[in-house]
Amino acid sequence: MILDRGVFDVETFVPSDLVHRDGPLDALSASLEPVVRHGTGRQTHIFGPSGAGKTCLARYCLKQLREEAPHVRRQYINCWEHFATTAILYQLAAGVGTAADIRPDTVSHDELLRRVRDADEYAYVVVLDEVDQIEEPQLLYQLYRMAHVHTIYIANEEHAFFTRLDERLTSRLRSGEPITLDRYSRDELVSILERRAEAGLETGATTEAILTEIAQLATGDARVAVETLFQAARKARARGSGTIEQRDIEDAEPVARSELRQKTLSQLTRHQRLLYEALCDAPGETGMGDLEQRYRERVEQPKSTKTLRRYLQKLAQYNLVAIEGEKSGRRYLAR
Ligand SMILES: Nc1ncnc2c1ncn2[C@@H]1O[C@H](COP(=O)(O)OP(=O)(O)O)[C@@H](O)[C@H]1O
Ligand SMILES: [Mg+2]
Repeated sequence: MILDRGVFDVETFVPSDLVHRDGPLDALSASLEPVVRHGTGRQTHIFGPSGAGKTCLARYCLKQLREEAPHVRRQYINCWEHFATTAILYQLAAGVGTAADIRPDTVSHDELLRRVRDADEYAYVVVLDEVDQIEEPQLLYQLYRMAHVHTIYIANEEHAFFTRLDERLTSRLRSGEPITLDRYSRDELVSILERRAEAGLETGATTEAILTEIAQLATGDARVAVETLFQAARKARARGSGTIEQRDIEDAEPVARSELRQKTLSQLTRHQRLLYEALCDAPGETGMGDLEQRYRERVEQPKSTKTLRRYLQKLAQYNLVAIEGEKSGRRYLAR
């Protein structure tokens, strides 16, 4: 039934063709032209909800770049995983091959920056995925100042990304049209799933009707769609069947959502996790004041209210938190 598990790894698998994203792919490739041709980098922004294919688009583009412009250096950094400045700088230095002798716990920021700055004989394309998670946005200014570096910033919301930057940085990084991805339509998800099934499942494992059903349940989120297909294939296999049926999908969908939830939970930073736990312990919907108090009971050096609000927005984008109401009347609920 399942021929290749790797095809269903939502974080790392890069499909051999990107469907329904020709416009965004053209826009991204065009924005890289100057850096590929002349070695002069700027930046590109990609925004969109979870499961809209942002990571996939960026990784696909890097793969193309490797084939079409092998002299250009490339690095992909997930800033949710590497959120501290040192960690990001270390990944940046690794991307230009100058990190081998470095001990990440003792090296200075200046030293790491110097290594990236000095490696300017070739252009360098850097993807900062989940960039709204970085600890110190000032780092982006350092990157901006390196002429040979082109940065592709990926975040869920344009507004949430820019509000953290000061005016000077905002005006510099705002240049150029952002690439905005919307949720997929049901039919678009069906064609993504068709290709995924071809690549990872035995022939005849699915039908168009089954994939349409999965796409319907995924409500525009490709991450949910791909994971549900995988879980449905596992359910069918457990029944000893070579074909996925309606009942497999019904069983698979909650499992898929819970798997994705676990994945998100496992990537939360310590303070995000403590905040989430505080919210889980609250009885029902909670306002910011109460939640903050609960959170503060758990930590020694609490983050500011503003930072906590930002965390809650992020948790909401990944379906861990529901937010209701506006401004000061906002209420939060763990999902
Ligand atoms: N246009 C596409 N073609 C093929 N697969 C896609 C496409 N868009 C998304 N996917 C797949 O859907 C899943 C979620 O996409 P991802 O890029 O992780 O979304 P995001 O980063 O916006 O949350 C991944 O498995 C990805 O490979
Ligand atoms: Mg992503």
